[in-house]
Amino acid sequence: MRLRNIPGAREAVAADPRCISSPEICKGKWSEVFGNSNPVRVEVGMGKGRFIIDMALKYPDINFVGIEMYESVMIKGLQRLDKMESQPANLRFIRMNAEEIGQWFEEGEADRIYLNFSDPWPKARHARRRLESREFLARFAPILKSDGVIEFKTDNMDLFDFALEEVEPAGWQLLFQTRDLHSDAEAMKDNVMTEYESKFSAKGNPIYKYIIKKAL
Ligand SMILES: C[S@@+](CC[C@H](N)C(=O)[O-])C[C@H]1O[C@@H](n2cnc3c(N)ncnc32)[C@H](O)[C@@H]1O
Repeated sequence: MRLRNIPGAREAVAADPRCISSPEICKGKWSEVFGNSNPVRVEVGMGKGRFIIDMALKYPDINFVGIEMYESVMIKGLQRLDKMESQPANLRFIRMNAEEIGQWFEEGEADRIYLNFSDPWPKARHARRRLESREFLARFAPILKSDGVIEFKTDNMDLFDFALEEVEPAGWQLLFQTRDLHSDAEAMKDNVMTEYESKFSAKGNPIYKYIIKKAL
């Protein structure tokens, strides 16, 4: 998702205290950033932030970090927060390409990573840009605790098939998968909808999900 350039978005995001402008100085220090040692969960590709904001509100004892490449998209999340009476203290944003994620988190500093409706990058030559590729899984592995998991949701069957094929060669193991999340009452119990999930499930598209952890 890349919205049209929004005048002033770059400056607004850069100046906003809810957005971490130098995440490398947070490496190993996220407990100081949040002022507690609660678990830290990360959404890579948060878009306009519906999921991560709703998660932060639902789970005040968990810290959430949303990563998004484009200011023009992230500003929408900030505008949503502006409309709220009080700000969730357990939420921060990083406006950067997640390729650099290893520079922002110490080994084992995160306990969960969410990948929601990631860009599919359909051309084979762009496969390395897919967040579920072995290249990205190798970036995510060190920052997750040993029992930490990645949760991935999409409505794109080709991307889901690709993601499943990457799991084992990348050194991960599959804990759960479904090709119709919204028909799985147990899996839906704690489901928090993302913006894309809401849009695509309303059209009748099945939602695919996996949960993976690092193989021992
Ligand atoms: C299709 S949108 C989905 C947004 C949201 N997660 C949802 O489910 O509604 C994917 C988002 O991921 C962002 N993104 C893709 N690759 C990224 C990367 N390497 N680093 C940070 N953000 C990325 C895109 O800019 C886009 O806003």
